[in-house]
Amino acid sequence: MLVILSKYLYNEFMEKFCIVTYGCQMNVHESEKLSGMLLDFGLQETLKPTNADVIVFNTCCIRENAENKACGNIGALKGYKKKNPNVIIAVGGCMPQQKGVAEKLLDKFPFIDIIFGTQNLYLFKQFLQERLNGKKHVVELEYNSPLPPENFEFNRDGKDDNAYVNITYGCNNFCTYCIVPFVRGRERSRLEKDILEECKQIISEGKYKSITLLGQNVNSYGNDLKDGSNFSKLLKEIALLPGDFKIKFMTSHPKDLSDELIETIATTEKISHDIHLPCQSGSTKVLEAMNRRYTREHYLGIIKKIKTKIPDANISTDIIVGFPGETEEDFQDTITLIKEVKFSQIFAFIYSKRKGTVAEKMEGQVPILIKRRRVNEVLNLQKQIIKEQKGK
Ligand code: 5AD
Ligand code: SF4
Repeated sequence: MLVILSKYLYNEFMEKFCIVTYGCQMNVHESEKLSGMLLDFGLQETLKPTNADVIVFNTCCIRENAENKACGNIGALKGYKKKNPNVIIAVGGCMPQQKGVAEKLLDKFPFIDIIFGTQNLYLFKQFLQERLNGKKHVVELEYNSPLPPENFEFNRDGKDDNAYVNITYGCNNFCTYCIVPFVRGRERSRLEKDILEECKQIISEGKYKSITLLGQNVNSYGNDLKDGSNFSKLLKEIALLPGDFKIKFMTSHPKDLSDELIETIATTEKISHDIHLPCQSGSTKVLEAMNRRYTREHYLGIIKKIKTKIPDANISTDIIVGFPGETEEDFQDTITLIKEVKFSQIFAFIYSKRKGTVAEKMEGQVPILIKRRRVNEVLNLQKQIIKEQKGK
């Protein structure tokens, strides 16, 4: 017997879904959208994949180990799927959005039922229905999607008192190491009125202490809209909404962080003083090869301005070690930058070659043992800095 639930056909033998999420906050938030859709489909959430009838892997491909982890966990479900052939296994997000990867995934894991991407996730219920209607593999990838629709049923993570809100999708920066512009497409900004509407809705629910605005580069919000919108203005508008909440945001790109924005953060009470500002490297030579479009001096100049205007700012950063051509001297530039800035937190990564990026083909790839030594040096230095700061 089939029961009609909303406009989707509900299979009475299906009860539970599980979403396994890898990667950044953008993915965490997109899993909240997937979860909302699956609840609307009539299923309940479970945290254990082997309790579920629908298992969705929301994947990341920023570094090779993120892909290996997802593949390991998908592969581990082979036996579960064999015993329970009606279970539906879906793989979405950044990983299959890379050229040729969907085919490779199906080759390696023929038991995958649905493959979808970052730009058509909002059609997931439709993909699930197609599979239930008997289509063997549903493989749907979209590369040039405009904005997703506005009328999402989120299932915002109940454990948390923070609500994520997308302000932009995609990225135009093409840092030479990064796969994101290839898998998430060009930067598209949501309209200010739609963002404000969503924030109002979140505040009216009364259970969130903070709203975190999400974009690959929040500082370039509005550039594509050509209606005078910009990030500083958006922050001010959100801060004007009545209610007791903090506004957070990530990620900022140093090349686009304006004086106006620093002033807005300094003078607007509701805006959090946590600023995540990835520097990636302390060497101007490496920054240039990374196509970051700022120098060490420019980065340090921004830090100085932030510390002057916002003395209690918590500045965190991302560092990549072992970018092609990074010499010991370049690496020491990163070390001295870290000593000078004294970040509140550092996310340090070993450079990982990504297919199709400019850096993939660069000469001077750094041996893994050197990369490991450098990443440990960064992490140990950071530990020491935090210890000294706590002692003060
Ligand atoms: N290798 C290592 N780290 C990377 N990042 C992005 N691409 C790569 C890569 N190919 C890091 C950057 C970015 C963070 C989200 O991930 O530091 O800011
Ligand atoms: Fe990747 Fe650079 Fe865009 Fe960040 S700004 S998502 S590192 S290309």
